[in-house]
Amino acid sequence: MIKAFLFDLDGVLVDTAVFHYQAWRRMANSLGFDFTHEFNETLKGVSRMDSLDRILALGGVTLTDERKLELAAQKNQWYLDLVNEMTPADILPGVNAFLAQIKQAGEQGQPIKIALGSVSKNAPLILDRVGLSHIFDAIIDGSKITHSKPDPEVFLKGAAELNVLPEECIVFEDAVAGIEAAKRGNMFALGIGSPDVLTQADLVVPSLEHLTVTELLSAVERAQG
Ligand code: G6P
Ligand code: MG
Repeated sequence: MIKAFLFDLDGVLVDTAVFHYQAWRRMANSLGFDFTHEFNETLKGVSRMDSLDRILALGGVTLTDERKLELAAQKNQWYLDLVNEMTPADILPGVNAFLAQIKQAGEQGQPIKIALGSVSKNAPLILDRVGLSHIFDAIIDGSKITHSKPDPEVFLKGAAELNVLPEECIVFEDAVAGIEAAKRGNMFALGIGSPDVLTQADLVVPSLEHLTVTELLSAVERAQG
């Protein structure tokens, strides 16, 4: 039986995935190369330093650790310039209605706990900017984990803090690495995006606008038999 929902942040609750893409491209451009939207899909859910390593490898650039830290800090500053302009209006379509349905389910005798599972160290700031800090029963962010997605650590810690079993959780993810993390953690993986990209997901919807809590729970019940 499903007892908890674990939400990724960037690209699921807010559109900061686009800000990461813009800031990383700006950094790559400053080094004399560029990368595609398809390559960007491989960065989603991947920690800041691991993302930097992947981008530098793509551009064939080798740098000292000190220079890499400088570049990561610069990218983060460009990213924060965008985050600091955020307001509750930047919550993605369908999210608030979906969160309200979770609350309603609880009032109707089906309590569902919710946790954040993001590898971003900026997660608390972003939640604060969009006014979502208070809604979670547990928050696992980049400061609480040692392994980036696709390692399941972030979601397993979320389940543990909520005191539920992995198989009682649904993970909400827009990243290939995040879906893999959910499956490796033995959780139901709901993909937000395209089924052509999120091929390992148990179910994919274009956005939370296209799903109700009741529909989701029925789909999981059917899948789990
Ligand atoms: C999320 C995003 C990644 C980002 C990572 C670290 O997983 O999907 O694109 O690199 O968080 O974010 P941070 O805010 O700590 O740089
Ligand atoms: Mg994401």
